[in-house]
This record gives sequence, C-alpha cells and structure tokens, in this order.
Amino acid sequence: MRSLILPAGAFRALAHHISDFTADYLEKLPNLPSYPPGVSGQQTQALFTGDLPLEGIGAAAFADLERVFNYARPSSPRFFGYVFGSGEPISALGDFAAGVLNQNATAWRSAPAGVTIERTVVRWLAEAIGCAGFSGSLTLGGSSANLMALCMAREAKAPANQSGVRGGVIYCSAEAHMSIAKAAALLGLGHDSVRKIAVDEAFRMRTKDLRAAIERDLREGKQPIAIVGSAGTTATGSIDPLDEVADLCAEFGLWMHVDGAYGALAALAIPDAFRGMNRADSLSLDPHKWLYQPAGVGCLLYRNPADAQRAFSHTGDYARSLTNDPIEGFAIFEESMELSRPFRALKLWMSLRYFGLRAFQHSIAEDLELAQVLARAIDAEPHLERLAPVALSAVCFRFKDSNGDLDVLNQAILQRVTQRGRVYLSNAVIHSQFVLRACIVNHRTTEDDVREIVAEVLAAAGEVQA
Ligand SMILES: Cc1ncc(COP(=O)(O)O)c(C=O)c1O
Repeated sequence: MRSLILPAGAFRALAHHISDFTADYLEKLPNLPSYPPGVSGQQTQALFTGDLPLEGIGAAAFADLERVFNYARPSSPRFFGYVFGSGEPISALGDFAAGVLNQNATAWRSAPAGVTIERTVVRWLAEAIGCAGFSGSLTLGGSSANLMALCMAREAKAPANQSGVRGGVIYCSAEAHMSIAKAAALLGLGHDSVRKIAVDEAFRMRTKDLRAAIERDLREGKQPIAIVGSAGTTATGSIDPLDEVADLCAEFGLWMHVDGAYGALAALAIPDAFRGMNRADSLSLDPHKWLYQPAGVGCLLYRNPADAQRAFSHTGDYARSLTNDPIEGFAIFEESMELSRPFRALKLWMSLRYFGLRAFQHSIAEDLELAQVLARAIDAEPHLERLAPVALSAVCFRFKDSNGDLDVLNQAILQRVTQRGRVYLSNAVIHSQFVLRACIVNHRTTEDDVREIVAEVLAAAGEVQA
C-alpha cells in the first residue's frame, strides 16, 4: 500500500472524533473567554514550534487539537474586534466536505458542479444586495477582491498588461481600507498614485474635494483611472455618497469600484443606505465578514465580464478549452488572478440553503440594532464618549474621565479589557485620537453581550487607574 493511504474505517473514526470534538467546542462557546487567558507568545512558541516530524504519530496528532483550540481566540459572542465574521458552523461543514471532495474550482471541466455552484452563489449575492445582473467570482477575501478590481480598472482605463505601467491615479477617501493602497503598490502604480480625499463629519468622502482633486490631476497631465467608494469604512462603518461618486465617474470617464468588504452585505437589511452602489463597475463584498462564513471567502462582482477577461485572460495552451459550449467551456481563471482554486462556494451554498436569505437578513438587522443599543449605552454613561456616528455596526468610543493623556489611558484600558477576557475590542484612530472600537458582525451576539462592553471598559478603567 502507498504510504499516505488512509483506510476508509480510519477516516470515518477520525471524522467522528472531529465532529464530536468541534460540537463540544460549539456547546462550550458561549461561556468561553473572549480571549485565551494568560496566553503569551512564549507559550505558543513552546507549544507549536516542534521539529519537522519525520515519522508520523498517527491519531495522536488529533489529540493535539485540544491544545490548538485552547490557545486560539474563540469565536465568542463577545468578540467585537476588527471586522471578522463569526464562523457559522453549517458553513464549516461545507468547508469540510469541500476539502474531502478536493475540486479545482477554476473551470467547468475541472469542477462541473463546483463552478456551476460558484456562479450560482455569486448571482445570488449580487441579487441579494441589489446588483442583479453582475457576475464575478469568489476570492480569498476583500483585499484580493480590491486588488483584482483595481487591476480591471487599470486595464480598462490605462492598459498596462502588454506594455507595462505608465501611471494612473486612484481616488478614495482618507478612511478607505489599507488594501486600496496595497493594491496600488502591487499594481506598480505606487502609494503616491492614491489620492486620499478628506471626509465630512460623518466620515464620508467629500465629493467637492474629490472633484477638485480630479480636476487638479487632469490639469497636471496625470491620468485618473478609478474612484473607490467605501460602502462601510473599517473604522466607523461610514458609507460614501455612492450616487455622487457614480456621477463623477460618469462625468470624467472613470472606473467606479465600491469597497463593500465590510458593509455591502448590510444592503440585505438597509438597502436605502447604499443608494448608487449598483452603478459600480466593480464591487467587493466579504461573506467571511457579514455573512458569518468561516475565513477565506470574499467576492468580487463586476458589471461586464469582458473587463475581467481583459485584465486576467492570459491563457496558455495547456489550459485551452476544447469546447465552444458556453457552460462547459467556462473558465473562472480567465476572469480571476487565481488558477487553482478551492471550492469556496460549497460552504456558502450550504449555509444559504440551510438557513435561507431571510435568516441572514434578520441577523444583520439584529447586529445593526445591537450597535445602536451599544451607542445608546455609551451615550448614557458619563465616563465614556462616542467619537463617531454609527452608520453600520462599528462603534468608536473612549474613556474620557481623566486629566491625563487619554490616548495612553485608553490603550492601557484596551489591554486590560483583553486580559480580563470577557469582551474583545479593537482600536482605531478618530480625529487623531486613540479610540476603542466594537464591531458587531456576529450571529451569536446578544444584547447582554453588548451591554457587557460598557461594564468591562469601566471595570478595566477602574483597575488601570487604581
Ligand atoms: C472596508 C474593508 N475593505 C477591505 C478589507 C479587507 O478584507 P480582507 O480582510 O477580507 O482581505 C477590510 C477588512 O476588514 C475592510 O474592512
């Protein structure tokens, strides 16, 4: 027998073990700390940096999972850091099945069901957020979707695939996600090609300033390529005036990309907040954020597949399709920067069909409402102040009751909150001030969990100041 063959019975036993083990974990989850208590870098180094195993240890490798889970940050209902989805478990089962099936979801011929399901799921997502008719593909996440979108924009407005990069300017707000600057760097345009337009009091791009910046660049002989509107900025969840962005794109012949990695899926619950989004040429959204999927699934939508093909079709002879059938000849790799691709769609397909879109709509609406509950609780607490309106589900605030340096104090409070392990917050900078930030994109979170944030920050502040 070959060395890596696993008998079916052994697989069955191990799979049962994993299903029992993970089901136990899910049962315990609501009561687990929001961060593993007392975990240190030295501990994880000591536990997980052993020598390369030349001989296998068999099923004992599974016993080590206990330690992995113990030193992981649990998917707790009281995790409010960053913008990170809460890992809905039907989806995790879909991931498991997809791994066993091991499809190369890159072309119909390599994954007939997989590619068809991916195209279906992408169509569903587009429909669900009011962008019916868009096509696209699933990506590793929002950063890769933004990179692909800006590559398409560059190729549409200042083609460079053949002759190399000649320049081009991208506009976004000062609050846009770092993946926009990263994409500009990766595309060879450089950070200097990104104009970060000032925002208004609600952290939305000022379109007057945007127009002025475009006109200035044109006067100076530069080549504007694209405007990136944010549909949910990372720090505050603000939504740029997308209709006005679309008008400017039409007027100046620019590509309109919407970075909806955080917020676009909230259009399921509050579509009016996203007016103009469906005028985009391309749009990123992240099921692994606000569709609660386990990490590793973003999505890029675009209006015209020919734009994606212009950017990404570099077919080699070894990959040429031998059929003219539009379904059987379809290849995602002609519209994506990826070639070998996992069957990401299976988890989404199972999760959406198991629960139905309405359940996701309700859950997102609940997250939005919980953010308002938190905002009201902060506003009612004299020791705290909120530093931004709550457009979606990110709430930025700080402890304000001290004559000392509030940035230093709030950093210490954040560290203490994490050590206390009851809620997990992250941070942001608002008006050059360090703030605590809670973001609710978690299908497990309840009102009690959210109320705990205020209590925990006050308790941590008491300990820090004692
Ligand atoms: C607005 C926005 N865009 C893009 C991204 C990047 O997404 P990902 O982490 O999936 O690469 C994020 C991540 O938080 C985000 O908030």
